[in-house]
Amino acid sequence: MLVQLNDVFMAYNLLKGKKGLIFGALNEKSIAWKVAERAFEEGAEVVLTNTPVALRFGNVYELAERMNTVVIPADATNIQDLENLIDQTMERFGGKIDFVLHSIGMSPNVRKGRTYDDLDYEFFLKTLDISAISFHKILQTCWKKDAITHGGSVVALSYIAAQRTLYGYNDMADAKALLESIARSFGYIYGRERGVRINTVSQSPTETTAGGGVMGFDALLDFSDRMSPLGNASALDCADFCITLFSDLTRKITMQNIYNDGGFSSMGMSNRAMAVYNRNLEECKDCK
Ligand SMILES: NC(=O)c1ccc[n+]([C@@H]2O[C@H](COP(=O)([O-])OP(=O)(O)OC[C@H]3O[C@@H](n4cnc5c(N)ncnc54)[C@H](O)[C@@H]3O)[C@@H](O)[C@H]2O)c1
Repeated sequence: MLVQLNDVFMAYNLLKGKKGLIFGALNEKSIAWKVAERAFEEGAEVVLTNTPVALRFGNVYELAERMNTVVIPADATNIQDLENLIDQTMERFGGKIDFVLHSIGMSPNVRKGRTYDDLDYEFFLKTLDISAISFHKILQTCWKKDAITHGGSVVALSYIAAQRTLYGYNDMADAKALLESIARSFGYIYGRERGVRINTVSQSPTETTAGGGVMGFDALLDFSDRMSPLGNASALDCADFCITLFSDLTRKITMQNIYNDGGFSSMGMSNRAMAVYNRNLEECKDCK
């Protein structure tokens, strides 16, 4: 049977027979939503999860229905929730999990407009817990339950603010640096002991609920696009790349942070960005 959830249909059966757990689909714009759709199209069986609040506000159950699957509520910062989630997922799959997507991010400081020189530290800890330590919690819970198949693959989504300072990204930059470090530290252990790959994908700015929360997001989106020879990568582009990382075609790639950004990370200045810069030079000559 031909399954198609996206406009452009190109399925290669790359995930035929594989079973995956996907964190972070909230609505149609979510990167995790696109990954779930593409995984399904490529032949995977998927379990979806998000927080109870997100499940009330988003429309994840619609997606689950189209994919003949279930949604299991879990707060990814809560170990008990994660234990229950992993148990239920393995029960549904009748065995281990082949791939996991961590597509989770939230900063209360960003939400409340607290700038980096005026952080609320309770909020800061929450940012780190939700956006980075949750990745360790998921990996450790799966580790203790031996839940991931030998040859399996785990991906978390990151952003270039982990390496370079981008105005307005705030404490999420620190969270992304920690997230990428966790991928390397646990990637070593998982690779050595269980033959499991762990990578992060560093994605272009993308119009989603989380993305839109970043200060000056529209300008950032435009700037990145102008700077990238291939233009910004969309959520669907990101999903396509995640599928290759979940597939058997990338068996020796692990502990990497891989840019899916149209070339942005290798650029210094582009003609398209320079054109805008020149136009506003006079007006902005005193800008800090
Ligand atoms: N949108 C961008 O510009 C962009 C760029 C690079 C990387 N990313 C990363 O991609 C990932 C997905 O974000 P998105 O852009 O699809 O936005 P999104 O808002 O659709 O997804 C964020 C998800 O995190 C979930 N979440 C928040 N707290 C949680 C918790 N405690 N437990 C479980 N889930 C929780 C939310 O419910 C939501 O589904 C994030 O890690 C984000 O930082 C986004």
